[in-house]
Amino acid sequence: MLDINFVRSQYPVFQDPETAEWAFFENAGGSYVPRQVIDRLTHFFKYTKVQPYYLFKSSIEAGEAMDQGYRCMAELLNADIDELTLGPSTSMNTYILAQAIRPSIKSGDEIVITNQDHEANIGCWERLNEFGAVIKKWRINPDTGELNIEDLEKLVTDRTRLVCFPLCSNIVGTMNDAVAIADIAHAVGALVVGDGVSFAPHRIVDVNQLGIDLYLFSTYKTFGPHIGVLWGKKDVLEKLASQGHYFNADIPHYRMNPAGPLHAEIGALAGIGEYYEAVYAHHFNEPAAGLHEKAERVFDLFSEQETKLANQLLQALQDLPDARIVGKSRAEIGKRASTISIIPLKRKPSDIAKELATRKIAVGKGHFYGRRCVEALGVEDSEEGVVRISLVHYNTEEEVDWLINNLSM
Ligand SMILES: Cc1ncc(COP(=O)(O)O)c(C=O)c1O
Repeated sequence: MLDINFVRSQYPVFQDPETAEWAFFENAGGSYVPRQVIDRLTHFFKYTKVQPYYLFKSSIEAGEAMDQGYRCMAELLNADIDELTLGPSTSMNTYILAQAIRPSIKSGDEIVITNQDHEANIGCWERLNEFGAVIKKWRINPDTGELNIEDLEKLVTDRTRLVCFPLCSNIVGTMNDAVAIADIAHAVGALVVGDGVSFAPHRIVDVNQLGIDLYLFSTYKTFGPHIGVLWGKKDVLEKLASQGHYFNADIPHYRMNPAGPLHAEIGALAGIGEYYEAVYAHHFNEPAAGLHEKAERVFDLFSEQETKLANQLLQALQDLPDARIVGKSRAEIGKRASTISIIPLKRKPSDIAKELATRKIAVGKGHFYGRRCVEALGVEDSEEGVVRISLVHYNTEEEVDWLINNLSM
Protein backbone atom coordinates (compact mmCIF):
# COMPACT_ATOMS: atom_id res chain seq x y z
CA MET A 1 0.00 0.00 0.00
CA LEU A 2 1.08 3.53 -0.70
CA ASP A 3 2.52 5.24 2.38
CA ILE A 4 0.58 8.44 2.03
CA ASN A 5 2.50 10.19 4.82
CA PHE A 6 5.79 9.52 3.07
CA VAL A 7 4.38 10.71 -0.26
CA ARG A 8 3.05 13.94 1.24
CA SER A 9 6.34 14.55 3.04
CA GLN A 10 7.92 15.00 -0.41
CA TYR A 11 5.67 18.00 -1.21
CA PRO A 12 6.50 21.39 0.35
CA VAL A 13 2.87 22.46 -0.25
CA PHE A 14 1.76 19.95 2.39
CA GLN A 15 4.34 21.21 4.90
CA ASP A 16 3.28 24.84 4.81
CA PRO A 17 0.60 25.49 7.49
CA GLU A 18 -1.52 27.63 5.18
CA THR A 19 -1.46 25.62 1.96
CA ALA A 20 -1.62 22.29 3.82
CA GLU A 21 -5.11 23.19 5.04
CA TRP A 22 -6.52 22.96 1.52
CA ALA A 23 -7.99 19.79 0.06
CA PHE A 24 -6.77 20.08 -3.50
CA PHE A 25 -8.99 18.41 -6.11
CA GLU A 26 -7.99 20.31 -9.26
CA ASN A 27 -5.08 18.08 -10.18
CA ALA A 28 -6.24 17.56 -13.77
CA GLY A 29 -5.51 21.26 -14.31
CA GLY A 30 -1.98 20.92 -12.92
CA SER A 31 -0.56 18.85 -10.10
CA TYR A 32 1.50 19.89 -7.09
CA VAL A 33 5.27 19.53 -7.36
CA PRO A 34 7.59 17.51 -5.09
CA ARG A 35 10.77 18.93 -3.60
CA GLN A 36 12.99 17.07 -6.09
CA VAL A 37 11.57 19.14 -8.97
CA ILE A 38 11.53 22.41 -7.01
CA ASP A 39 15.16 21.89 -5.92
CA ARG A 40 16.30 21.33 -9.50
CA LEU A 41 14.38 24.32 -10.83
CA THR A 42 15.67 26.56 -8.03
CA HIS A 43 19.23 25.36 -8.55
CA PHE A 44 19.01 26.05 -12.27
CA PHE A 45 17.70 29.57 -11.73
CA LYS A 46 20.22 30.31 -8.99
CA TYR A 47 23.41 28.98 -10.57
CA THR A 48 23.05 27.95 -14.20
CA LYS A 49 20.53 30.34 -15.73
CA VAL A 50 22.71 30.90 -18.79
CA GLN A 51 22.69 29.78 -22.40
CA PRO A 52 23.43 26.03 -22.14
CA TYR A 53 25.93 23.88 -24.06
CA TYR A 54 28.73 26.49 -24.25
CA LEU A 55 32.21 25.92 -22.92
CA PHE A 56 32.13 27.73 -19.57
CA LYS A 57 31.27 26.00 -16.28
CA SER A 58 27.72 27.20 -15.61
CA SER A 59 26.77 26.65 -19.25
CA ILE A 60 28.17 23.10 -19.24
CA GLU A 61 26.22 22.37 -16.06
CA ALA A 62 23.03 23.84 -17.53
CA GLY A 63 23.42 21.57 -20.58
CA GLU A 64 24.07 18.56 -18.35
CA ALA A 65 20.92 19.27 -16.33
CA MET A 66 18.91 19.47 -19.56
CA ASP A 67 20.43 16.24 -20.84
CA GLN A 68 19.37 14.58 -17.59
CA GLY A 69 15.85 15.88 -18.21
CA TYR A 70 15.80 14.34 -21.69
CA ARG A 71 17.23 11.08 -20.39
CA CYS A 72 14.68 10.92 -17.56
CA MET A 73 11.73 11.36 -19.93
CA ALA A 74 13.16 8.78 -22.36
CA GLU A 75 13.73 6.24 -19.57
CA LEU A 76 10.28 6.76 -18.07
CA LEU A 77 8.59 6.16 -21.42
CA ASN A 78 11.00 3.40 -22.44
CA ALA A 79 11.75 5.54 -25.49
CA ASP A 80 14.80 6.65 -27.41
CA ILE A 81 15.90 10.26 -26.78
CA ASP A 82 15.76 10.88 -30.54
CA GLU A 83 12.04 10.11 -30.46
CA LEU A 84 11.28 12.96 -28.04
CA THR A 85 10.48 16.63 -28.48
CA LEU A 86 10.23 18.75 -25.35
CA GLY A 87 8.08 21.75 -26.21
CA PRO A 88 6.28 24.37 -24.14
CA SER A 89 2.92 22.54 -23.94
CA THR A 90 0.86 19.80 -25.52
CA SER A 91 -1.34 22.37 -27.31
CA MET A 92 1.77 23.82 -28.95
CA ASN A 93 3.12 20.34 -29.75
CA THR A 94 -0.10 19.20 -31.47
CA TYR A 95 -0.22 22.48 -33.39
CA ILE A 96 3.32 22.01 -34.64
CA LEU A 97 2.67 18.36 -35.40
CA ALA A 98 -0.29 19.37 -37.56
CA GLN A 99 1.99 21.74 -39.51
CA ALA A 100 4.50 18.94 -39.94
CA ILE A 101 1.86 16.51 -41.24
CA ARG A 102 0.12 19.10 -43.47
CA PRO A 103 2.39 18.76 -46.54
CA SER A 104 1.61 15.04 -46.78
CA ILE A 105 -2.17 15.60 -46.78
CA LYS A 106 -3.80 15.34 -50.21
CA SER A 107 -7.23 16.62 -51.09
CA GLY A 108 -9.82 14.07 -49.94
CA ASP A 109 -7.59 12.47 -47.30
CA GLU A 110 -9.54 11.86 -44.12
CA ILE A 111 -8.74 12.76 -40.52
CA VAL A 112 -10.75 11.35 -37.62
CA ILE A 113 -11.14 13.57 -34.55
CA THR A 114 -13.31 13.08 -31.47
CA ASN A 115 -15.52 15.37 -29.43
CA GLN A 116 -14.24 13.78 -26.23
CA ASP A 117 -10.84 15.45 -26.60
CA HIS A 118 -9.41 18.62 -25.14
CA GLU A 119 -9.35 21.26 -27.90
CA ALA A 120 -5.56 20.78 -28.15
CA ASN A 121 -6.18 17.54 -30.04
CA ILE A 122 -9.07 18.77 -32.20
CA GLY A 123 -8.74 22.29 -33.58
CA CYS A 124 -5.26 21.91 -35.08
CA TRP A 125 -6.44 18.86 -37.07
CA GLU A 126 -9.76 20.38 -38.05
CA ARG A 127 -7.92 23.34 -39.60
CA LEU A 128 -6.28 20.97 -42.08
CA ASN A 129 -9.61 21.05 -43.95
CA GLU A 130 -8.27 24.32 -45.43
CA PHE A 131 -5.71 22.13 -47.19
CA GLY A 132 -8.20 19.60 -48.53
CA ALA A 133 -8.53 17.19 -45.62
CA VAL A 134 -11.97 15.76 -44.91
CA ILE A 135 -12.67 15.85 -41.18
CA LYS A 136 -14.66 12.96 -39.74
CA LYS A 137 -16.04 13.14 -36.23
CA TRP A 138 -16.02 10.24 -33.82
CA ARG A 139 -18.69 11.36 -31.38
CA ILE A 140 -19.36 10.36 -27.79
CA ASN A 141 -22.58 8.77 -26.62
CA PRO A 142 -24.29 11.84 -25.08
CA ASP A 143 -25.65 9.80 -22.16
CA THR A 144 -22.45 8.07 -21.10
CA GLY A 145 -19.83 10.46 -22.49
CA GLU A 146 -18.01 7.45 -23.92
CA LEU A 147 -16.58 6.71 -27.36
CA ASN A 148 -17.84 3.51 -28.91
CA ILE A 149 -15.14 1.55 -30.75
CA GLU A 150 -17.66 0.20 -33.31
CA ASP A 151 -18.36 3.78 -34.36
CA LEU A 152 -14.68 4.21 -35.21
CA GLU A 153 -14.75 1.04 -37.30
CA LYS A 154 -17.56 2.57 -39.37
CA LEU A 155 -15.73 5.89 -39.77
CA VAL A 156 -12.37 4.75 -41.13
CA THR A 157 -11.86 4.12 -44.85
CA ASP A 158 -8.87 3.58 -47.10
CA ARG A 159 -8.62 7.40 -47.32
CA THR A 160 -8.10 7.78 -43.54
CA ARG A 161 -4.65 9.22 -42.90
CA LEU A 162 -4.93 10.10 -39.23
CA VAL A 163 -6.92 9.10 -36.16
CA CYS A 164 -6.62 11.49 -33.19
CA PHE A 165 -8.08 10.54 -29.80
CA PRO A 166 -7.57 10.97 -26.04
CA LEU A 167 -6.11 8.14 -23.97
CA CYS A 168 -8.26 9.52 -21.19
CA SER A 169 -10.86 12.27 -21.27
CA ASN A 170 -10.25 15.22 -18.93
CA ILE A 171 -14.04 15.46 -18.41
CA VAL A 172 -15.41 11.90 -18.59
CA GLY A 173 -12.46 10.14 -16.95
CA THR A 174 -12.80 7.07 -19.17
CA MET A 175 -9.56 5.53 -20.40
CA ASN A 176 -9.80 4.56 -24.06
CA ASP A 177 -8.31 1.37 -25.45
CA ALA A 178 -5.32 2.74 -27.37
CA VAL A 179 -4.26 -0.66 -28.76
CA ALA A 180 -7.74 -1.41 -30.15
CA ILE A 181 -7.98 2.07 -31.68
CA ALA A 182 -4.51 1.76 -33.20
CA ASP A 183 -5.38 -1.65 -34.68
CA ILE A 184 -8.40 -0.20 -36.47
CA ALA A 185 -6.45 2.81 -37.75
CA HIS A 186 -3.40 0.80 -38.82
CA ALA A 187 -5.58 -1.66 -40.74
CA VAL A 188 -6.33 1.15 -43.20
CA GLY A 189 -2.80 2.60 -43.08
CA ALA A 190 -3.61 5.62 -40.89
CA LEU A 191 -1.32 7.16 -38.28
CA VAL A 192 -2.57 7.44 -34.71
CA VAL A 193 -2.11 10.45 -32.42
CA GLY A 194 -2.93 9.88 -28.75
CA ASP A 195 -3.35 12.69 -26.24
CA GLY A 196 -2.12 11.33 -22.92
CA VAL A 197 -2.36 14.52 -20.86
CA SER A 198 -5.17 13.21 -18.65
CA PHE A 199 -3.80 9.67 -18.69
CA ALA A 200 -0.17 10.23 -17.73
CA PRO A 201 -0.79 11.35 -14.11
CA HIS A 202 -2.47 7.99 -13.47
CA ARG A 203 -0.65 5.34 -15.52
CA ILE A 204 2.94 4.98 -16.67
CA VAL A 205 3.28 4.45 -20.39
CA ASP A 206 5.68 2.19 -22.25
CA VAL A 207 5.54 3.71 -25.72
CA ASN A 208 6.48 0.36 -27.28
CA GLN A 209 3.34 -1.26 -25.83
CA LEU A 210 0.97 1.58 -26.58
CA GLY A 211 0.35 0.67 -30.21
CA ILE A 212 0.03 4.27 -31.40
CA ASP A 213 2.44 6.35 -33.50
CA LEU A 214 2.50 9.71 -31.73
CA TYR A 215 1.92 10.27 -28.03
CA LEU A 216 1.75 13.53 -26.10
CA PHE A 217 1.48 14.58 -22.47
CA SER A 218 2.32 17.54 -20.24
CA THR A 219 4.65 17.25 -17.28
CA TYR A 220 2.95 20.01 -15.28
CA LYS A 221 0.20 17.44 -14.71
CA THR A 222 2.69 14.72 -13.77
CA PHE A 223 4.29 16.45 -10.77
CA GLY A 224 6.82 18.39 -12.85
CA PRO A 225 7.50 21.70 -14.60
CA HIS A 226 5.50 23.16 -17.48
CA ILE A 227 6.73 21.13 -20.45
CA GLY A 228 4.90 19.33 -23.25
CA VAL A 229 6.37 15.97 -24.24
CA LEU A 230 5.87 14.68 -27.76
CA TRP A 231 6.96 11.13 -28.53
CA GLY A 232 6.87 9.68 -32.03
CA LYS A 233 8.08 6.48 -33.64
CA LYS A 234 11.40 7.22 -35.30
CA ASP A 235 10.30 6.24 -38.82
CA VAL A 236 7.13 8.32 -38.44
CA LEU A 237 8.97 11.42 -37.22
CA GLU A 238 11.56 11.14 -39.99
CA LYS A 239 8.84 11.42 -42.63
CA LEU A 240 7.35 14.59 -41.13
CA ALA A 241 8.37 18.00 -42.46
CA SER A 242 10.87 19.62 -40.08
CA GLN A 243 9.45 22.62 -38.24
CA GLY A 244 12.80 23.64 -36.73
CA HIS A 245 15.37 26.11 -38.05
CA TYR A 246 16.86 24.79 -41.29
CA PHE A 247 20.25 24.14 -39.67
CA ASN A 248 18.54 22.04 -36.96
CA ALA A 249 16.57 19.91 -39.40
CA ASP A 250 18.83 16.90 -38.80
CA ILE A 251 18.72 17.11 -35.00
CA PRO A 252 15.81 14.78 -34.11
CA HIS A 253 14.66 16.53 -30.92
CA TYR A 254 14.69 19.97 -32.57
CA ARG A 255 12.81 19.04 -35.76
CA MET A 256 9.39 19.47 -34.14
CA ASN A 257 10.43 22.56 -32.19
CA PRO A 258 10.60 25.85 -34.09
CA ALA A 259 11.71 27.70 -30.95
CA GLY A 260 14.48 27.15 -28.44
CA PRO A 261 13.86 24.65 -25.64
CA LEU A 262 12.79 25.87 -22.19
CA HIS A 263 16.15 25.49 -20.45
CA ALA A 264 15.31 25.67 -16.75
CA GLU A 265 12.10 23.62 -17.03
CA ILE A 266 13.82 20.87 -19.00
CA GLY A 267 16.63 21.07 -16.43
CA ALA A 268 14.06 20.35 -13.69
CA LEU A 269 12.44 17.35 -15.42
CA ALA A 270 14.82 14.83 -13.88
CA GLY A 271 13.28 15.74 -10.52
CA ILE A 272 10.17 13.79 -11.56
CA GLY A 273 12.28 10.66 -11.95
CA GLU A 274 13.99 11.36 -8.61
CA TYR A 275 10.58 11.61 -6.96
CA TYR A 276 9.50 8.22 -8.36
CA GLU A 277 12.88 6.78 -7.29
CA ALA A 278 12.31 8.06 -3.74
CA VAL A 279 8.81 6.52 -3.59
CA TYR A 280 10.20 3.26 -4.98
CA ALA A 281 13.06 3.13 -2.47
CA HIS A 282 10.64 3.74 0.41
CA HIS A 283 8.25 0.94 -0.62
CA PHE A 284 10.37 -1.76 -2.24
CA ASN A 285 13.55 -3.49 -1.18
CA GLU A 286 14.27 -5.27 -4.43
CA PRO A 287 16.48 -3.67 -7.05
CA ALA A 288 14.63 -2.88 -10.29
CA ALA A 289 16.08 -2.89 -13.77
CA GLY A 290 15.70 0.81 -14.40
CA LEU A 291 13.59 3.92 -13.96
CA HIS A 292 10.76 2.66 -16.15
CA GLU A 293 10.36 -0.55 -14.14
CA LYS A 294 10.50 1.39 -10.86
CA ALA A 295 7.91 3.84 -12.13
CA GLU A 296 5.64 0.95 -13.15
CA ARG A 297 5.70 -0.39 -9.58
CA VAL A 298 5.21 3.08 -8.14
CA PHE A 299 2.28 3.81 -10.46
CA ASP A 300 0.63 0.55 -9.43
CA LEU A 301 0.61 1.93 -5.89
CA PHE A 302 -0.59 5.32 -7.13
CA SER A 303 -3.42 3.69 -9.11
CA GLU A 304 -4.58 1.62 -6.15
CA GLN A 305 -4.75 4.71 -3.96
CA GLU A 306 -6.53 6.79 -6.61
CA THR A 307 -9.02 4.06 -7.43
CA LYS A 308 -9.88 3.60 -3.76
CA LEU A 309 -10.47 7.35 -3.37
CA ALA A 310 -12.42 7.63 -6.63
CA ASN A 311 -14.77 4.84 -5.53
CA GLN A 312 -15.20 6.41 -2.10
CA LEU A 313 -16.34 9.58 -3.86
CA LEU A 314 -18.37 7.90 -6.62
CA GLN A 315 -20.25 5.84 -4.04
CA ALA A 316 -21.20 8.94 -2.07
CA LEU A 317 -22.19 10.84 -5.20
CA GLN A 318 -24.75 8.16 -6.05
CA ASP A 319 -26.75 9.26 -3.00
CA LEU A 320 -26.59 12.93 -3.97
CA PRO A 321 -29.85 14.26 -5.38
CA ASP A 322 -29.92 16.77 -8.24
CA ALA A 323 -26.60 15.69 -9.70
CA ARG A 324 -25.67 13.82 -12.87
CA ILE A 325 -22.37 12.02 -12.61
CA VAL A 326 -20.47 11.87 -15.89
CA GLY A 327 -18.84 8.62 -16.95
CA LYS A 328 -18.50 5.22 -15.31
CA SER A 329 -20.02 4.88 -11.86
CA ARG A 330 -17.06 2.82 -10.60
CA ALA A 331 -13.36 3.43 -10.97
CA GLU A 332 -11.19 0.57 -12.17
CA ILE A 333 -7.45 0.59 -12.82
CA GLY A 334 -6.84 1.14 -16.51
CA LYS A 335 -10.53 1.85 -17.23
CA ARG A 336 -11.56 4.96 -15.32
CA ALA A 337 -9.31 7.63 -13.88
CA SER A 338 -9.98 9.55 -10.67
CA THR A 339 -11.24 12.53 -12.67
CA ILE A 340 -14.90 12.92 -11.80
CA SER A 341 -17.25 15.47 -13.35
CA ILE A 342 -20.66 16.34 -12.00
CA ILE A 343 -23.45 18.16 -13.83
CA PRO A 344 -25.52 19.83 -11.14
CA LEU A 345 -29.20 19.88 -12.04
CA LYS A 346 -30.27 22.85 -9.91
CA ARG A 347 -27.23 24.96 -9.01
CA LYS A 348 -24.51 26.67 -11.02
CA PRO A 349 -21.09 24.95 -10.98
CA SER A 350 -19.45 28.29 -10.14
CA ASP A 351 -21.66 28.67 -7.02
CA ILE A 352 -20.73 25.17 -5.87
CA ALA A 353 -17.01 25.74 -6.51
CA LYS A 354 -17.14 29.09 -4.70
CA GLU A 355 -18.92 27.56 -1.72
CA LEU A 356 -16.38 24.73 -1.48
CA ALA A 357 -13.53 27.25 -1.67
CA THR A 358 -14.83 28.97 1.48
CA ARG A 359 -14.22 25.60 3.18
CA LYS A 360 -10.72 25.30 1.73
CA ILE A 361 -11.71 22.72 -0.85
CA ALA A 362 -10.35 23.38 -4.35
CA VAL A 363 -12.33 21.99 -7.31
CA GLY A 364 -12.61 23.07 -10.94
CA LYS A 365 -15.61 24.30 -12.86
CA GLY A 366 -16.18 25.01 -16.55
CA HIS A 367 -15.37 23.12 -19.74
CA PHE A 368 -11.60 22.80 -19.26
CA TYR A 369 -11.12 23.30 -23.02
CA GLY A 370 -13.06 20.09 -23.52
CA ARG A 371 -15.88 22.35 -24.61
CA ARG A 372 -17.16 20.11 -27.37
CA CYS A 373 -17.40 17.24 -24.90
CA VAL A 374 -19.32 19.31 -22.36
CA GLU A 375 -21.69 20.52 -25.09
CA ALA A 376 -22.19 16.99 -26.41
CA LEU A 377 -23.12 15.88 -22.88
CA GLY A 378 -26.02 18.31 -23.13
CA VAL A 379 -24.74 21.04 -20.81
CA GLU A 380 -26.47 24.22 -21.93
CA ASP A 381 -24.08 26.80 -20.48
CA SER A 382 -20.67 25.41 -21.39
CA GLU A 383 -18.83 28.30 -19.68
CA GLU A 384 -20.39 27.15 -16.42
CA GLY A 385 -19.81 23.60 -17.62
CA VAL A 386 -19.37 20.92 -14.96
CA VAL A 387 -17.92 20.66 -11.48
CA ARG A 388 -14.72 18.66 -11.85
CA ILE A 389 -13.12 16.84 -8.94
CA SER A 390 -9.78 15.41 -9.99
CA LEU A 391 -7.74 13.37 -7.56
CA VAL A 392 -4.24 12.00 -7.72
CA HIS A 393 -2.26 9.66 -5.49
CA TYR A 394 -1.40 12.23 -2.81
CA ASN A 395 -5.04 12.91 -1.95
CA THR A 396 -6.37 11.25 1.20
CA GLU A 397 -9.54 9.54 2.42
CA GLU A 398 -9.97 12.32 5.00
CA GLU A 399 -9.92 14.93 2.24
CA VAL A 400 -12.53 13.01 0.26
CA ASP A 401 -14.71 12.71 3.40
CA TRP A 402 -14.38 16.42 3.98
CA LEU A 403 -15.47 17.06 0.40
CA ILE A 404 -18.42 14.67 0.64
CA ASN A 405 -19.60 16.34 3.83
CA ASN A 406 -19.49 19.78 2.21
CA LEU A 407 -20.82 19.02 -1.25
CA SER A 408 -24.37 20.09 -1.90
CA MET A 409 -26.02 20.28 -5.28
C1 LIG B 1 -6.67 16.06 -21.94
C2 LIG B 1 -5.85 17.29 -22.20
N1 LIG B 1 -5.24 17.41 -23.37
C3 LIG B 1 -4.48 18.47 -23.67
C4 LIG B 1 -4.31 19.50 -22.77
C5 LIG B 1 -3.47 20.66 -23.14
O1 LIG B 1 -2.24 20.58 -22.51
P1 LIG B 1 -1.32 21.86 -22.45
O2 LIG B 1 -1.87 22.74 -21.39
O3 LIG B 1 0.03 21.32 -22.12
O4 LIG B 1 -1.37 22.52 -23.76
C6 LIG B 1 -4.94 19.43 -21.52
C7 LIG B 1 -4.81 20.51 -20.56
O5 LIG B 1 -5.57 20.68 -19.65
C8 LIG B 1 -5.74 18.30 -21.24
O6 LIG B 1 -6.37 18.15 -20.07
